[in-house]
Amino acid sequence: MHWLQPALFAGTLNLANTCLATNSTSNTGNPTASNYINPNVPTGVPIVGDYGGQYRPQVHYSPPQHFMNDPNGMFKDEDGIWHLYYQYNPTGIVAGNQHWGHATSKDLYHWVNQPIALFPPKETQYIFSGSAVTDPNNTSGFFPNQKNGVVAIYTLAEYGQDGSPGPQTQAIAYSHDGGYTFTPYERNPVIPSNSSQFRDPKVVRYKDHWVLVLAYAQAFEVGIFTSPNLKEWTPASNFSHTGLLALQWECPNLVQMPYIDSDGKQHDDMWLMAVSVNPGAPVGGSITQYYPGRFNGTHFVPVDSAARIADFGKDNYAGQFFYGTDEGEPPVSLDWASNWQYTQVVPTGGEGWRSAMSLPRRSYLKNVKRLGWKLVKEPYDLAPIMGPQVAANSSVVNGTLAVDFASVESNALYWEANITGIPSSGIPELATLNFTFMSPQTGEFVRGGYYLGGDTPFFIDRGGAKGFDNVFFTDKFSTNSIIDEDSWRMSGVLDRSILEVFLDGGIESATVSYFATQPLTLMLLTTSDLPRGVNVSVSVHALESAWQKMTNQEDGLVYGNQTVNGTSSVGKRHLFGRTL
Ligand code: FRU
Repeated sequence: MHWLQPALFAGTLNLANTCLATNSTSNTGNPTASNYINPNVPTGVPIVGDYGGQYRPQVHYSPPQHFMNDPNGMFKDEDGIWHLYYQYNPTGIVAGNQHWGHATSKDLYHWVNQPIALFPPKETQYIFSGSAVTDPNNTSGFFPNQKNGVVAIYTLAEYGQDGSPGPQTQAIAYSHDGGYTFTPYERNPVIPSNSSQFRDPKVVRYKDHWVLVLAYAQAFEVGIFTSPNLKEWTPASNFSHTGLLALQWECPNLVQMPYIDSDGKQHDDMWLMAVSVNPGAPVGGSITQYYPGRFNGTHFVPVDSAARIADFGKDNYAGQFFYGTDEGEPPVSLDWASNWQYTQVVPTGGEGWRSAMSLPRRSYLKNVKRLGWKLVKEPYDLAPIMGPQVAANSSVVNGTLAVDFASVESNALYWEANITGIPSSGIPELATLNFTFMSPQTGEFVRGGYYLGGDTPFFIDRGGAKGFDNVFFTDKFSTNSIIDEDSWRMSGVLDRSILEVFLDGGIESATVSYFATQPLTLMLLTTSDLPRGVNVSVSVHALESAWQKMTNQEDGLVYGNQTVNGTSSVGKRHLFGRTL
């Protein structure tokens, strides 16, 4: 664990900025998944958050307070509610003291904060990353009389008093109330180990059995295990030393992935293995690589040994696919929108929170020109947060569209640009499409641009935002987005401190955090040197703040689900989008 600094795990956490709102440390509920409860950690009641800060994303998930990292345990329940758990330090603004935070959503944008779901069972253990599945057929035996049982599978990470890492073992906990509270299995661990580099189990169903993948982090290996009942696991095979090694492999995912062929026909015999690597990514720190391949229930065989990187930005790590998406629905994922190189020092700490999740994404595999296999990712249906159109122009050809969006209260924007009429003979190398978001007050900016000719490079530059200076917070990223047809498109979301772009329908995508001292409120979209016949149409929409809808109008705070088990433990009953 590269990011673990002994002090963080030796009980010396700085609690100075622990409590933002008075009830966040109330210890009123029942401990759910453990014997040991840290008295500073609230149980049975969600932590309260202020989602109004300058850096607070308005359409992305971020924790109410404190430090968050990987998405964990994500599943869709039988009522269509999406459950997000996440690595959570409820007592500090840096990594450490890991629990599973919890939030639920009907649409993947409006989230209801729930009480913490998993607590470490001992003072010297932490709950690291893992996954969750529903068990409607009671394969586990935990759920004789119900269809909505949930089993969480996670790593118990042991630490010595001096903070030195001890064994990492895999444990399970079961939930009788659909994933809100959990009871640890009395015979944990279900996969013992003496290794301190053995973690992040992710479970999927394959025909008649369960399959678990997890990382032997410093051996650069994914272990594949099988089980009939989620309790007894048998090693089946290993997948290792393919693609990038960096210094560690973490958070593997194995998921059946639709392949859409050039005729638009869907094939269902492909799988995807995703492996997060950290530190040592080519852009620095943490990134995710993936392998298209085939899986027979015990062995994964990639199509080749190439390294394919999921996102060309620097803030997309440890992503996870939801378990239990509907039959025929493409896989849906969320990624952690940060990087271990600087996540613990970003300036959102001044607002009492650190890290957000990426936009939810839908994915499929495609064979693209020149590169072959690609994982294509697009934002999940944005309709629930789509606001009014603030600008549109059907022909921005060798000119500029300027959009003042200072009046957009969320300070969050969606835009798309479509280029048509691209001649098959190609385009002059100088032809460009550029976008800039800037602060008229300070001149700060983030920008991106596409050179349509030659090798078709695309860049993003966050260096004009001046709110954070760190040697590892490198500021320029680029990729190539090959033009395959006579059209090409780009879409993106700007959300106070996160920029995401999707090129050519998501064949390339980037997640980039940025920190300007003043809000960016002016958008400029410029094209130049486009040859005759090429057209660019642009549409820009305000995004509606998802968090504003969850906010108590009296004090401006988001209370989350205060009615767990039918009672309010803080004397307030704010039924903000309760989803139970
Ligand atoms: C990845 C990771 C995982 C681990 C978790 C701890 O970001 O290092 O390997 O389980 O974070 O918070």
